[in-house]
Amino acid sequence: LIEAVNAREILDSRGNPTVEVEVLLDDGIVQRAAVPSGASTGAFEAYELRDGDKSRYGGKGVRKAVAAVIDELGPAVEGTDAADQRVIDEILIETDGTENKSRLGANAILGVSLAVAKAAADSADLPLFRYLGGPNAHVLPVPLFNVINGGEHADNGIDMQEFFLAPIGASSFEEALRWGAETYHVLKGELKAAGFSTGLGDEGGFAPDLPNNREGLDFLVKAIEKAGFTPGADIALGLDAAATEFFADGVYRLDQKDWTAPELIDYYAGLVDAYPIVTIEDALAEDDWNSWKLLTDKLGAKIQLVGDDLFVTNPERLAKGIGLGVANSLLVKVNQIGTLSETLDAVELAHRSGYTTMFSHRSGETEDTTIADLVVATGSGQIKSGAPARSERVAKYNQLLRIEEELGDAAEFIGRAAFPRFTA
Ligand code: PGA
Ligand code: ZN
Repeated sequence: LIEAVNAREILDSRGNPTVEVEVLLDDGIVQRAAVPSGASTGAFEAYELRDGDKSRYGGKGVRKAVAAVIDELGPAVEGTDAADQRVIDEILIETDGTENKSRLGANAILGVSLAVAKAAADSADLPLFRYLGGPNAHVLPVPLFNVINGGEHADNGIDMQEFFLAPIGASSFEEALRWGAETYHVLKGELKAAGFSTGLGDEGGFAPDLPNNREGLDFLVKAIEKAGFTPGADIALGLDAAATEFFADGVYRLDQKDWTAPELIDYYAGLVDAYPIVTIEDALAEDDWNSWKLLTDKLGAKIQLVGDDLFVTNPERLAKGIGLGVANSLLVKVNQIGTLSETLDAVELAHRSGYTTMFSHRSGETEDTTIADLVVATGSGQIKSGAPARSERVAKYNQLLRIEEELGDAAEFIGRAAFPRFTA
């Protein structure tokens, strides 16, 4: 039974305040969870409650969310069995009482939801991935390393937000991590030799001032080859355009030009022909459903098309997309929806509908590694947690190393099978 719930304000990887929650069970177990925070947030995400008091942290303090945990959410779940996750999440949602968790804050609610799951797992003497995923949880995900940062995550001229290395040809997670790190270091040397900055963006990738997006992909291909790997077969590429950020008044603004959606879709088709791209996330804006349908009809059989701002881990928005035949993959961010149960519902709906899933960190992260366990628990097969550098990013990858070790011979790294549509 849940005996007490505490919360505090801590800092995230960008130096902004965020919520940490601690749950105490009556058997003496204590577990905590910390909540991440996005920069290129979708308009349809659950509400992140910030104080707005400009005298502290420029208005970004989370004392109200902390108070919501201590005064309302905690007392509402105290005395409940921590193993009853769905009951607890329902209580949290009802205590807040709003559609988008705006009264008490999705950051407050998620902290409690995740800390309860971790405490329940510990109380059952099981690792979190096993507690949530059951005895058959054994699939290690392909890591998607965001090694060039642009958009809202860097102060450079690159419009697209994320350029991924996806080591689909590795035979284990440990090997995929090594391939990613080796290529990351070669990429640094290549950028430096070409006279570009090797300063880092928010997710640990380099933030060079490249003239256009194709240049970023060219650097990745060069780095993969120079590191001794085959582009495509060993390490494939991916993009998160985060297109909502460069869309306004019906026009996409990319590479110093204005594009209509059909023109932009042709541009993506050209990239897919020219580079070994397995996945493109948020290729179009979050409410441009008609264009998303055109994109999916054109490229959906060849590559993975991921909805992030489009779906915001929300089962209702995902159901709409499935009904329309829009995208073919769900990005999974626990704080976009605000409870563990709703997150797992979205993942289940995606898998049932033939959509792949990719678990994701946020650009503002902490040392919390819960998503590493969740990706194994659900058998998703894909995770993005930034570059293979910076502790808040590698904390998740390091946790996956531990899980792979713990599973031993039972561990399975599915590699390119995680991307069933990629046939190139
Ligand atoms: P965010 O970026 O955490 O800043 O929203 C991540 C993403 O767009 O996938
Ligand atoms: Zn995204």
